[in-house]
Amino acid sequence: MLYFPQNTRYDSMPYNRCGRSGLKLPAISLGLWHNFGGYDAFENGRAIIHKAFDEGITHFDLANNYGPPPGSAEENFGRMLSTDLKAYRDELIISTKAGYEMWPGPYGDHGSKKYLTASLDQSLCRMGLDYVDIFYHHRPDPDTPMEETMQALDQIVRQGKALYVGLSSYDARQTREANKILNDLGTPCLIHQPRYSMLDRWVEDELLDTLEEQGIGCIAFSPLMQGILTDRYLHGIPEDSRAHNPRGFLSKDHITPDILQKVHALNEIAAQREQSLAQMAITWLLKDQRVTSVLVGASSVSQLENNLGALLKSGFGDDELHRIEEILTQ
Ligand SMILES: NC(=O)c1ccc[n+]([C@@H]2O[C@H](COP(=O)([O-])OP(=O)(O)OC[C@H]3O[C@@H](n4cnc5c(N)ncnc54)[C@H](OP(=O)(O)O)[C@@H]3O)[C@@H](O)[C@H]2O)c1
Repeated sequence: MLYFPQNTRYDSMPYNRCGRSGLKLPAISLGLWHNFGGYDAFENGRAIIHKAFDEGITHFDLANNYGPPPGSAEENFGRMLSTDLKAYRDELIISTKAGYEMWPGPYGDHGSKKYLTASLDQSLCRMGLDYVDIFYHHRPDPDTPMEETMQALDQIVRQGKALYVGLSSYDARQTREANKILNDLGTPCLIHQPRYSMLDRWVEDELLDTLEEQGIGCIAFSPLMQGILTDRYLHGIPEDSRAHNPRGFLSKDHITPDILQKVHALNEIAAQREQSLAQMAITWLLKDQRVTSVLVGASSVSQLENNLGALLKSGFGDDELHRIEEILTQ
């Protein structure tokens, strides 16, 4: 099947400036953590990627370990790039990361220059790319000097293997420290990727203010709390859901009665707003100007379509925000 992207692909997606950089990212980006690995149906993943690009999603987020098995999401995405998207490389922002365990021994994990450099080389090979647009350190490593990890990121950019660098899951203090080193090296941090959703708001304490002050963009991962902030689990645990999948990172134990009570209450507000719960959860994140992009996952084209529908309705009334806050803080 040949793929030709829609000519209308830039008609409706908003693009937000990433921090104080020159780069704009789509308000909704797509992550390939789940659903694109070696055990998933390749054609389903391919259809999701096509739909995303057709609707103006220019940013695809990967990591060395996405699959399972680790590396297989990059391999599959590489296949799709070569068959479908090769001609559109300059319209794409592709990111990958290293920081979690990837191969055995002391050089396949954490934050050493040895690991980051080798891992990105492997990622480029799996995806068939000369460079990625953004390379992230995936998580802070307390045992490697911050200078070494940041020097590795700077060197990778100087080598032309990445255009920009990012940090994921660093707290506010770590982010300031890392960005100071990066700025001194001449490779400022472009973007931070934290977990952020209605049900996980740690970034609101200090990180979002820090990012704004430092001119760093923010892309929120797991904005739907891996599917909990959707209609997926309102009436039990479906067999085709992430919580049911033993290879997934969501366990049935995460879906507690307390969480479900909040989800049902939020779902009612979403219905009154004529949005799905997933859409409301995305709109709620995008109301904060410091959030550059919301990084969703999807296991089907219809889920992605539903998520994109969040862009049709912006903003909340004061009363809605108050009611949502009451549910989230009770
Ligand atoms: N930096 C990091 O450490 C880190 C960590 C995690 C994720 N990420 C990034 O963030 C991306 C997104 O994470 P995530 O997959 O956890 O995001 P998410 O958007 O919170 O969850 C995606 C899952 O929610 C369900 N879903 C999505 N849209 C739906 C809809 N409209 N209706 C019903 N269910 C829906 C699907 O689950 P089912 O499979 O059950 O259908 C889907 O797989 C990842 O792919 C990755 O790129 C980064």
